[in-house]
Amino acid sequence: MKKLKTCLESLRARTGFQPQVALILGSGLGDYADSIDIEQTVSYSEIEGFPTSTVTGHKGQFVFGYVQGVPVVIMQGRVHYYEGYPITDVVLPTRLMGLMGAKKLILTNAAGGINFDFQPGDFMLLTDHITTAVPSPLIGPNLDELGPRFPDMSQVYSLRMRDIIKAEAAKLNIPMREGVYVQLTGPSYETPAEIRMCRAWGGDAVGMSTACEAMAARHMGLEVCGISCITNLAAGMSDKALDHKEVQETADRVSAQFKQLITAVIGAI
Ligand code: HPA
Repeated sequence: MKKLKTCLESLRARTGFQPQVALILGSGLGDYADSIDIEQTVSYSEIEGFPTSTVTGHKGQFVFGYVQGVPVVIMQGRVHYYEGYPITDVVLPTRLMGLMGAKKLILTNAAGGINFDFQPGDFMLLTDHITTAVPSPLIGPNLDELGPRFPDMSQVYSLRMRDIIKAEAAKLNIPMREGVYVQLTGPSYETPAEIRMCRAWGGDAVGMSTACEAMAARHMGLEVCGISCITNLAAGMSDKALDHKEVQETADRVSAQFKQLITAVIGAI
């Protein structure tokens, strides 16, 4: 809590902006933030005690501004567990956006498709997640100011928001898949055996983020939704070796649709 308060004070010294909606942008989707009506940006490196992100394709700043008149804070570049930060640091920015006033959180990511019906370039609305393979960000003394010791996780991804997203996607003629997201640690892509395990667990897509942030956000009572961009078939499902370039290329290919969808969703939720 002390670190969180230090970060909040440091951020508050730079901006008084009051966001309603928080948005976290995944790999290859970061340039959405450049297209909004920007009020202010604060680089992560300016915030005392903030974990700074290193992955290529992630910029590393908060963007404050308006989408369809709605005040938003966008994390352009998230922090990943595989970068070596403790999982509590990975969710610190999410908590910070909640403490700044955001009541709703939209999570996005690039993910590998596990479900045999999925194709690269598909969008998947998260209906649920599996975090069993990563440490819980809620382990440790409970931050009572944020939420309860044993928070309910029976509806992490808001049904209300899911209905709105489906309706907005249909209006834009963007097909929407639905499914369960499995978070693993990375940074290596999975083995084919791990993908079979994820499928047996009930997963439809796999990635290295999102679920821990969703959990921390639900702990503090935010309403949460998540959209994956299926950038590739998961390991063992095609002859191709997996690489970050393919992830980026697919994300780039669908980025115009993605931007349209996010803009419509922010306006409607
Ligand atoms: N696995 C894990 N993370 C990913 C993948 C994948 O196949 N694609 C994009 N992020």
